[in-house]
Amino acid sequence: MTLIRDLKQHADQTVTVQGWLTGIRSSGKIHFLQIRDGSGFMQATVFKGDVTEEVFQTAKRLQQEESVLLTGLARLDDRAPGGVELSVREIQVVADNAADYPLTPKEHGIDFLLEHRHLWLRHKRPWAIIRVRDAVQTAINDFFHQEGFIRFDSPFFTPNAAEGTTNLFEINLFDEDKAYLSQSGQLYGEAGALAFGKIYTFGPTFRAEKSKTRRHLLEFWMIEPEVAYADHQDNMKLQEGMISFILKRVLDHCQEELKILERDIEKLRPASEGNFPRITYTEALEILKGYDRHIPWGEDFGAPDETILGNHFDRPVIIEKYPTAIKAFYMQPDPENPETVLCDDMIAPEGYGEIIGGSQRIHDYELLKSRIEEHHLPLEAFEWYLDLRRYGSVPHSGFGLGLERLVAWITGIDHLREAIPFPRMLTRMYP
Ligand code: 4AD
Ligand code: MG
Repeated sequence: MTLIRDLKQHADQTVTVQGWLTGIRSSGKIHFLQIRDGSGFMQATVFKGDVTEEVFQTAKRLQQEESVLLTGLARLDDRAPGGVELSVREIQVVADNAADYPLTPKEHGIDFLLEHRHLWLRHKRPWAIIRVRDAVQTAINDFFHQEGFIRFDSPFFTPNAAEGTTNLFEINLFDEDKAYLSQSGQLYGEAGALAFGKIYTFGPTFRAEKSKTRRHLLEFWMIEPEVAYADHQDNMKLQEGMISFILKRVLDHCQEELKILERDIEKLRPASEGNFPRITYTEALEILKGYDRHIPWGEDFGAPDETILGNHFDRPVIIEKYPTAIKAFYMQPDPENPETVLCDDMIAPEGYGEIIGGSQRIHDYELLKSRIEEHHLPLEAFEWYLDLRRYGSVPHSGFGLGLERLVAWITGIDHLREAIPFPRMLTRMYP
């Protein structure tokens, strides 16, 4: 079998492609079959003069999503999509039961498409987006291993909150016991960093987000590196290095996908070059004033503010040193201003909002303990976390990258629901 992706390398050879029909156009003596095989898309032509009458009639009867084996001559042709097409000699129909296939070439509404996500995935746009997602995941694994990290898996069931208690999914265990679905692997990642030096987690995380927004999913994938002996500056440097590495990889490897998505790649190029601007929270407030958004010091940004800040720059912007009161309990105070913490958010351009949140962690036992108490978190559940400060504590830092946010920005789609194979949202659990 030959993959469509490799077809060009088989010019003038007889090959067999196993795939599905996505469309057919006929004009008297010739049928143009549009074929997909998972690796790509191609056109196959069936000339009346090249094949038996039976094969010609078989081609004529083919319907969208029937599965077929096509044998023929691979021919380079500049006019064909992809620069190569198959001149068919034989057709073997594997299943001809696709007559009621619901996703016709006409336009469908988003609800209908999501209801048929299991079939929609076969189409060009999801094909391109999910392949970019795969390229991003591979790039992330490559980047961290190249930098000396190991992948370290955190549990999905946890006894405590990591990122505030308002969006926790509670799970009933056997008797009276409760657990939560993990909002973040970070706390476990910190244990990993103190054991292995540099680790990253890579897995699903869960947040009971009651609001319907295009930037929130109930289940999303997060990548959370954690590094022992690393401070806030090291942390921001690592974030920039990782994002520009990923962008470079996608621009090199995903040209076909980005073309299908009609993504303006010139908008992505600056991010592949590094040199991300860094501003403080307080400086960000000043920029917002210039856009007539007046936010009192101490309040968090809303989605419209993040959009403005993201659009102000041609590549992701790093905003550091937020007020202590609006950030998580574990963040290290800024020695220059105890009202702020050594944290940063990375905001993507073009309205995609926050893709990364990170910080240096409190490594002092007493301070961390008092923060847990101030946040009214149950101390018992955090004893193991405090142990990390009781025994050989060191400054350490890390961050969390939201995979779907990053993929949405890179592919230029307007909602996170298309950046994951099967999105879980307030209004959707099926399929
Ligand atoms: O900013 P967050 O909440 O940070 C943490 O969870 C830290 N523990 C990370 C760390 O320091 N190890 O989440 C990190 C990122 C956000 O920047 C965003 O990209 C993504 O996770 N994110 C979501 N993505 C999709 N749907 C949601 N509901 C998300 N919530 C956060
Ligand atoms: Mg955040």
